[in-house]
This record gives sequence, C-alpha cells and structure tokens, in this order.
Amino acid sequence: TRVGILGVPFDKGQTKIGVGNGPAAIRKMGLIERLEQIEGKLDIKDFGDVSYEIPPNLEHQNVPNMKGYVEFVACNHKLSKSVENIINEERICVTLGGDHSLGLGTVDGHLKSKNENVCVLWVDAHPDLNTNKTSNSGNVHGMPMALLAKELSDYWPYLPGLDWQKPIISLRNIAYIGLRSVDLYERVVIDKLGINAFGMEDIENYGISTVVEMAINKIDPNKDKSIHVSFDIDALDTLEAPSTGSAVRGGMTLREGIQLMEIVHRTGRLSALDLVEVNPNIGTEQEVHRTVDAAIHIIAAGLGHSRRGLRPKNVNTL
Ligand code: ARG
Ligand code: MN
Ligand code: MN
Repeated sequence: TRVGILGVPFDKGQTKIGVGNGPAAIRKMGLIERLEQIEGKLDIKDFGDVSYEIPPNLEHQNVPNMKGYVEFVACNHKLSKSVENIINEERICVTLGGDHSLGLGTVDGHLKSKNENVCVLWVDAHPDLNTNKTSNSGNVHGMPMALLAKELSDYWPYLPGLDWQKPIISLRNIAYIGLRSVDLYERVVIDKLGINAFGMEDIENYGISTVVEMAINKIDPNKDKSIHVSFDIDALDTLEAPSTGSAVRGGMTLREGIQLMEIVHRTGRLSALDLVEVNPNIGTEQEVHRTVDAAIHIIAAGLGHSRRGLRPKNVNTL
C-alpha cells in the first residue's frame, strides 16, 4: 500500500493557539516509524507541510461571521490541489491537522481526484455543519460540512475566492459518527435533510462495529466508492484525548476509534484520512502525550496495523 503524509499547520479556523503545532507533534512522536512497522511494509512518502500565500485579489475580502476567511480560502485551495495530486499518485492521503476547517480542502481534492465517486465518514463530537448565518462562534472549523454539502449551497452568500470549491458532495454520501454536541440549527438541518448521523447513543445501543457497518452501507451501498475518513480527535472522550480545543465529555473510547478504523481498513477502499484538532498547547505534557499517541493509534489502525501482532515472515522458522 502506498501512503502520502501531508501536514497542515493551519489554526485560523478557530481561536485557540497551538492547533497549528499538531502535525509537528504527531511526526515527532514517531508516526512514520510506527507506520513502518505495519505488516506488509507500506510505501510511505512524507510531503511535508502545506504552505500558502494570500492572492492579492483576496487580501481585503471578508465574509460576515467567518473569522480568518482569506487564510481559510487560500490554505484550502492549496491543500485541495496537494490532496488531489497525492491521491492521483495512488497513495492514501493522510492529512495531519491543524483545525477541522481543512476538511473542506481535503474532501474537495479527493472528490476531484476520484471524479466525485467518494463517500465521507465524519467522525466528530460536532457536525461542523454551521453556515455563517447559523454559527454562534464565527469559527470556520464549525462550517466545512455546510460548505461541502450540495443541499446547502443555497444557504450561503457569495463567497469570494471559493469558486474552485466544486464539485460538492451530496449529503447522501456523508455519515457522522460520534456526535454529542450539536447546535440548534445543525439539529434542524440533520433532521430536515435526513443526514446519516450516528451519535454516541447509537454507539451505546448497537456497538461501534454495527454502527460503522450501518454507516458505510448507507453512504456506499454498492461498495464502489473511495472512502474519506475525516477524524476529529474530539470524537474521542476527553479522558482519551484531552489536548483539543473543543473537548466534549462522554465520547468514544480509543478502542472504539481503533475498531472503527480497522473496519474501514478492511474495506480496502480507504483513500483519504484526516486527523485533526490535536492541540499540543492544551493540557499537561502527559495529556499531550496521550492525545498524540491516540492520534497515531487511529492512523495506524486505518493503514492496517493489527492488534493481533505481526506474523513471522517465514512460518517454517517456528
Ligand atoms: N459548533 C461549534 C461552532 O460552530 C463548535 C465546532 C467545533 N468544531 C471542531 N472542528 N472542533 O463553533
Ligand atoms: Mn470537527
Ligand atoms: Mn469536533
């Protein structure tokens, strides 16, 4: 299996300092070394971090209630192209965040590379489904899903510099897992449009493996789409991943996160994985360590790490 690692030290989608240090922290704790131990040897290429410049025509643009708008647009445009190129190289694109506003660029690049034949599992405590009219915070990391969704395109004003962000995806091809902090209007949209949403109560009721299978059957009934997993570390419980900017208690265990990723891995159709919202500036050293380690476990499970251990290369030596 071929893998591409891409860092996005972007933090303008929210207001806490530090989430831009996520990619460096994840690499420093040995992500690539841990992935190299996976059975069958992955072909891993690190593409470094995405950098971007603000194009002059965008400089003075802004949109009401969207903080960091120009940086958000410029970074995601560049990111989309990088993701498209990496997936075109037939690599699974692993994007390290950075805040979750980068989900706009990664899903967009994936859609472009695979001619829109993509489905998305958004693993998160939050739906990130606000528009600039419904958001209480004005933070764009709470908006990427509303920008990606075909069914919500009429609810946005004109967005300067975002014309590249097409195609967009139908909500039928998107499912949420892990929700437990849903804003008023997000709830309305989820109900009205019948979005596939599996909250913590569903994980309680059915167990994580049934939930993941139900979700994938909904968004990819013919089992022919490429799968994009956008994993916000705050989907995990605060005890498992304390170093994140919008922590919500009562979340998934690391075991559930790992199993979710193992199931996705077994489909053989994972082609992009975002791991976002790790903030090494929040919490004690121990808490940062625990959070980054959880992130690495999630990524490794998605790329085939097995909890059963490695098999010896030559069974005859036993
Ligand atoms: N719903 C809240 C908002 O719109 C929180 C979003 C948190 N998003 C995230 N990617 N952690 O601001
Ligand atoms: Mn999120
Ligand atoms: Mn979240």
